[in-house]
Amino acid sequence: MPAEIVPTEDEIAVHWREESRIDPPPSFSDHAQIRDPALREQLDPSRGPDGFRAYADLLTWDRPYDRVLDDSNPPFYRWFTGGSLNASVNAIDRHLPGAANRVAFHFVPEDESAPIEAITYGELSGKVNRLARLLQDRFALTAGDRVTLYLPMVPELPIAMLACARLGVIHSVVFSGFSGKAAGERIVDSTSRFLITMDGYFRNGQWIDLKAQADQAARESRARNHSLEGVLVFERTPGRYQSTSRIRAPEEIALTPLLETTSGDPCPPVSRESNDGLFIMYSSGTTGRPKGCFHGTGGYLSWVGATTRYVLDLRPDDVYWCMADIGWITGHSYIVYGPLLVGATSVLYEGLPQWPDAARPWRISEHLGVTVLHTSPTAIRALRRLDPDLPQRYGAPFRLLCTVGEPIEPETWHWYHEMVGHRRAVVVDTYWQTETGGHLLATLPGIEAMKPGSAGPALPGITASIYDEAGRKLPPGSGRAGILGIEHPWPGLMLGIWNDPDRFRKTYFEPLRRGVWADRWIYCTHDAATWSADGYFRILGRTDDVINVAGHRLGSKEMESAALTVPGIAEAAVVPYPDPVKGAVPLLFISTQKTCGPARDLAAAVSRAVVEAIGPIARPYAVIPVADLPKTRSGKIMRRVLRAVARGEEAGDVTTLANPESVTEVRNAVAEILSVGTTGPSGERS
Ligand code: WT7
Repeated sequence: MPAEIVPTEDEIAVHWREESRIDPPPSFSDHAQIRDPALREQLDPSRGPDGFRAYADLLTWDRPYDRVLDDSNPPFYRWFTGGSLNASVNAIDRHLPGAANRVAFHFVPEDESAPIEAITYGELSGKVNRLARLLQDRFALTAGDRVTLYLPMVPELPIAMLACARLGVIHSVVFSGFSGKAAGERIVDSTSRFLITMDGYFRNGQWIDLKAQADQAARESRARNHSLEGVLVFERTPGRYQSTSRIRAPEEIALTPLLETTSGDPCPPVSRESNDGLFIMYSSGTTGRPKGCFHGTGGYLSWVGATTRYVLDLRPDDVYWCMADIGWITGHSYIVYGPLLVGATSVLYEGLPQWPDAARPWRISEHLGVTVLHTSPTAIRALRRLDPDLPQRYGAPFRLLCTVGEPIEPETWHWYHEMVGHRRAVVVDTYWQTETGGHLLATLPGIEAMKPGSAGPALPGITASIYDEAGRKLPPGSGRAGILGIEHPWPGLMLGIWNDPDRFRKTYFEPLRRGVWADRWIYCTHDAATWSADGYFRILGRTDDVINVAGHRLGSKEMESAALTVPGIAEAAVVPYPDPVKGAVPLLFISTQKTCGPARDLAAAVSRAVVEAIGPIARPYAVIPVADLPKTRSGKIMRRVLRAVARGEEAGDVTTLANPESVTEVRNAVAEILSVGTTGPSGERS
């Protein structure tokens, strides 16, 4: 293992000490779906993969599988081979006989004066079938085709995903907050035939013109020699098209009126082999190009269905609200597929949680009777900051509170537990990744104690360990940090990276394939963690060039390449900078070519270029121009040194640098720029 990928103790941010364990209250445990610890033994991978049959049995199969696991071509594992099923049947049809009138989604528009719309399973079925029929009959979409969905948090997004799934069409959802350029790049990589989008949506009290962004996506796609066959545009408010960009026939088609005249006859589901693709979800990695995480059908759905039941403890009579966006993996697994597999009722909220004020989430939760709440540390910190006493004044019947996406510091955890959950609700910290399909580490909420700041032990069926520089396993309680790796495959792991099998093997399975494990295929998470004597893991953060901003993954290389498109920029390096709400924000260092204009103007241009390439979430906190970036003798930019200096820490050993004097300049530039108050040099601080 290259030494630089495992952080040393003084490099990792150890923000908090070991906390004591808190048992779940009996009021929760007595009714939890997992009350028997035997699940751990049943799924113990040392007994082979057969225990996962129990998870496959939670699904409705058209044809039973022949084999639980085909591991003949590692690391390309195939689950429940020979079996076939349809995702939309599992999510919708099988609930219809008994529960057609149960609400699947309560759609809550951001505008509080607009009515909340309840969509039952029966109504959802009608909408999904109608769209599927249209996609099939009018646009000739068939199994295996790709369609990009660029849609906000409105019912049309899960409806479009499920309509694709009904036909075996692979959906690739691009987060609506991403720029048109980023969407275009993803359309090209997935070679999507169609783009489905909407005129716009409401966020933070503003109308966001999504169709204009979609135009840019289509342009970007054309510029890269991929022409979409069509762009299908929903109306946010039926009958009232609101984008400044009009719909240009024949390639662009208004979908909402077209659906009204489409036959409502059921559209027969297409049965898929368990390892046929269900969706692509792009995620950032160490190189500039986003990776298309490609998930299958049977393995993915079994993992997501089981973890929704056993970790979120979700039941058909729950009202569940996950505040994530469906444009990220959390929304795919735990707003759309997981809750629908279980037959639960979910809240689908269009906007910003704190719109128009910090009490909105608590009003929604009280009004709809939310029992299970799922959000991120960033959202919890933001709500707590706005008014720490607020949730107490509202009476939502929370029984489980989930957190995901980034480490949660004990202080924030305790507030969530006490002020939001009144200590009656259990808090579940779930650790996982886009690649893993569903949870990897979490407590089983009914039977395992909570530990603030720790994601918990590995879930049943997951063999997690931490590894040092030499690839040696560090035992629990060693007090050292290592890279978190997973030893045996599990059904939720993605099939691969879309169109790039080599990258899949290299990125996830080569890093830990050394030393005593040279003949093994251990999945590398690229996260550093500690492992305490009681088996709980504490996640310390990414060890690759991925920055976690507000629970969202951003690739440093993507931001750096955007910066380098600005004329005059010689080099760029992004490092995470601690932020009290978002966990971290990107800090962008640039070095300029000798002949360019004032650094101040350049910094603003760089900030704009990053937002245009990726989206507002990637906006640098500050852009810091320096004459020279610290580099090794082989010319590699030392982000580690930049990160330490930015945090006001010691730079460590700089004797190996080709230009050790650059460190002083970086230190001075940081001091000057980060102390100017609320506006960075670019005037673009977010
Ligand atoms: C990265 C994956 C998986 C859902 C959302 C993010 C970090 C995720 C936790 C947690 C500490 C966490 C890791 C991971 N992360 N959950 N509970 N505690 N860190 O998915 O965008 O693929 O990001 O998020 O660094 O590698 P993603």
